[in-house]
Order: sequence, then structure tokens, then C-alpha cells
Amino acid sequence: MDALEVHGGATLAGEVGVAGAKNSALKLMAAALLAEGDTRLERVPDIADVAAMRAVLEHLGVAVARDGETLTCSVGPGLRTDTPPHLVQRLRASIVVLGPLLARHGHARLAQPGGCDLGHRGIDLHLQGLEMLGARITRDADAIVAEAPPGGLVAGDFELPYASVGATENLLMAAVCARGVTVIGNAAREPEIVDLAAMLQAMGARIEGAGTEEIRIEGVAVEDLRPTTHRVVGDRIEAGTYAVAGALCGGEVTVRGVDPAHLRLPLEKLAEAGASVDTEPGAVTVRRERGLRAIDVATLPFPGFPTDLQPPVTVLLTQAAGTAMVTENVFDSRFRLVEELRALGADAELAGHHAIIRGPSPLRGAAVRATDLRAGAALVLAGLCASGTTLVRDAAHIERGYMDLPGKLAALGARVRRVPASQPASQATPQAAPVGARA
Ligand code: EPZ
Repeated sequence: MDALEVHGGATLAGEVGVAGAKNSALKLMAAALLAEGDTRLERVPDIADVAAMRAVLEHLGVAVARDGETLTCSVGPGLRTDTPPHLVQRLRASIVVLGPLLARHGHARLAQPGGCDLGHRGIDLHLQGLEMLGARITRDADAIVAEAPPGGLVAGDFELPYASVGATENLLMAAVCARGVTVIGNAAREPEIVDLAAMLQAMGARIEGAGTEEIRIEGVAVEDLRPTTHRVVGDRIEAGTYAVAGALCGGEVTVRGVDPAHLRLPLEKLAEAGASVDTEPGAVTVRRERGLRAIDVATLPFPGFPTDLQPPVTVLLTQAAGTAMVTENVFDSRFRLVEELRALGADAELAGHHAIIRGPSPLRGAAVRATDLRAGAALVLAGLCASGTTLVRDAAHIERGYMDLPGKLAALGARVRRVPASQPASQATPQAAPVGARA
């Protein structure tokens, strides 16, 4: 995999636009399976995870065409319902095809999922919920096989023990054709859930309560579902990453294409840390006008602080005066970033699911490794405020979820470029090639 070479010291200023949300687009693509015909998704980011989900859909028999940021998913009558290992291992989120395949075709066979290294990532809640709808689930070492009852899925009530985003989405898509009224309790409330429900409603599904902890779905006949055109909600995590970059290295950075209400708590936390934050419909402006001060952050399901912004904020806290505690309550191993930050000179240590950050600590450029896409983006931000040059290896992780991160940062004044992974940081040439240029 290539690396990103980051030269520290730039002050960021200007405007950056965010793409459609990765964590919505992937599920909307799965939802297209529910209706025959052409479903058009607008503002779909051109990123590796979307390409991976496209490969899953095409394997199932869906024709997928991209025209700029619009994806057209043409669904025919006879779909395959098995997803092979190499496709599921490449994208853990592909598990959300289970719900629509069960709803429409009554069966699905899914190879055991993979995904980025965030520790144990169960799928038990997905499967328990589908069983509650009458599905028969069998698992062996290689695959999960799900079968709906002969008459189709049957509605029921399911209280999620944990407000799992993926489980809520899988259940939502399965329940749209389950006979009767399904109630999902302790449902995830993320904006991406609201976006999925809006698309399903446009397809003819009957859903109430998306965005709250109780979602009610009245099942409809599968043949009553029709294709639709839907614009993907703005990516709040991409937007939050650039907002943190503005708080860290601003100047003044304006992020466009996101609903500020989807970033309420992260923006409150940036202001608490000393950044100046302004919002307007569809945009957020962050300025760094003074020294940063340490704050505590604990990740929780929405509307709590999003785990996907924990890595960028952890980097911010290395530059804040005082001792900060970051508590990761969602994933059990999202702190591999900390050892990479220590390699850059950060004063950070782990205590269970807490990270203790003492700052400000001057960061010095070094060669580090992206362990997942959010940690990778965070390391690029760290490189922006480090002295010298930082080489972020395994940059392909970043490209799974960020469309042209180097180019967007460069447009704000950063010096970032792709280089061959083999290039040691010390040999970084001072004359960085135009951003985005492949060395
Ligand atoms: C989605 O993952 C996102 N991915 C993640 O973003 C995000 O961090 C996460 O939601 C939380 O907001 C996509 O949407 C593609 P969960 P998901 O189900 O659905 C445990 C990124 O960087 N769990 O809410 O997998 C699970 O192990 C990615 O864009 C079970 O134990 O999140 C984890 O510890 C990273 N059993 C926790 O719940 C289950 O059946 C959160 O999982 C399901 C989940």
C-alpha cells in the first residue's frame, strides 16, 4: 500500500466540501435490493468501501453504473443470494445485505464477515433480530445461512440490547416486508438511520420513529416496493475530521455540505477545547484563535460523541494544555492509534478503555502506520501539526472512507502527497509534488 507524506507547520484556511456519507451510502445500496428497477443514489462518495459494496451488488446480479457522484443500481427479478468470502471479508458492512435479501427472496448465504481492525465486532444482534422476524439462521465456520419462513418474515418486537447501527439497519430493511407491525426498541439514532428510513419510505415502506429509540415498521407486500432516487446525507464524520483539522491547524476552515445538527456534540467539544465554532445551514466554520485546553471525551451511540471522531480528537488533545481523558465505549480496540502518536512524541498512555493524554506535547515527524481509516486520517492531522515530515503508511485504509483527503487538505494549505510505501520518511523530498500526484 502507498503512504501519505505530510509536511508539518501549515496553517489551514479556506473551504472544504464533504461528500455523501459513507456509512449511509453503503446501506442505501443494500436497500436498492428491495425493489426491481433502477434505484438512483446521488452524492455517493467515490471511495474504496463503495467500490467494495458495488462488487457485492454486482455479484448478486445487480447492474451498477456510476455517473459522477450518481450511482444507478438496476435490480432484475432473479438475484443471487449468496455473498462469497472474498467480498464479505473486504467489507464487513456487506452484512447488511442479509435483511433485504431475506425480505425479498426469503434466503441469503453470507460468508463470515471481516472488516477493519477495531477488535471484536459481533453480528449476534443482527442475527437475533432476524430470528425474531422468523428467520432460521444456521452458522458454520464459513458462512451464515438465513431462511425466511415459507410465508415470509413475520413482524415482532425486538429490544436491541445495544443500540447497534448495523443491526438496526439490517432489521429495518428486513422488517419492511414482514407481515404485521415490527417495533425495534433501543434502536440506533444515527443520522444515517434516518437517511435509510427516508429512502425506504420513498420506496413505499411504512416506517415511523427513525432517529428515535423506537422504530415502528408496518410491513408491506414486497411487490409494492418500488425503486426511487435518493440523495445521500452529508458525511458528518468526514466533516468532523476537517472541523478538527481547523481547530488544530487553523486559520479559519469552513466545512460545507453537512447538517451542523449532526455534529452537535463534537462541535460543543471543540468549543470547550477553545476553538471558535460557528454554524449556518449546511456548513460549519472552525477557527483556532488561542491555545487549546484539555477536555474529556467519552464515545457513545448518537447523539453521544461519535467513536469515528475519537481518533481525530485524540490527536487534537495532544496539543491541548492539561491532562485529557478519552474513553472509548463503542469499540474494544480503537486505541491502536495511541502507540503511533507516541512514536510522534505524544505524551499518551492507555488505561483500559481510557487514553490519558497530557499536552501540549510537541510532535516530531516520523513514519507511522494507519491501523484503520479513522486512525489513518487522525495521523495525517498529527503530521500537519508535527515538525518535519510524517509518513503515514497503509494509506489505503484512509481511502476506504475519505474521498481525496490529501487533495482537500491541500486546498486548505496543507502539504500532503502520496508516495510509495517503500520511501523512508527521512528521504522525503522538500519539493512536494502537486497534491494527489502519484509519486
Ligand atoms: C457502524 O458500524 C459504522 N460503520 C462504524 O463506522 C461506526 O463506528 C459504528 O457504526 C458506530 O457508530 C458503518 O456504518 C459501515 P455497531 P457497526 O453495530 O454497524 C458491537 C467507520 O470508521 N456489536 O453500532 O458495525 C460491535 O462489536 C466505521 O466509518 C455486537 O457486539 O457499529 C461494536 O463493538 C468504523 N454485536 C459495537 O457493537 C452486533 O451484532 C458497535 O457496533 C453488532 C454490534
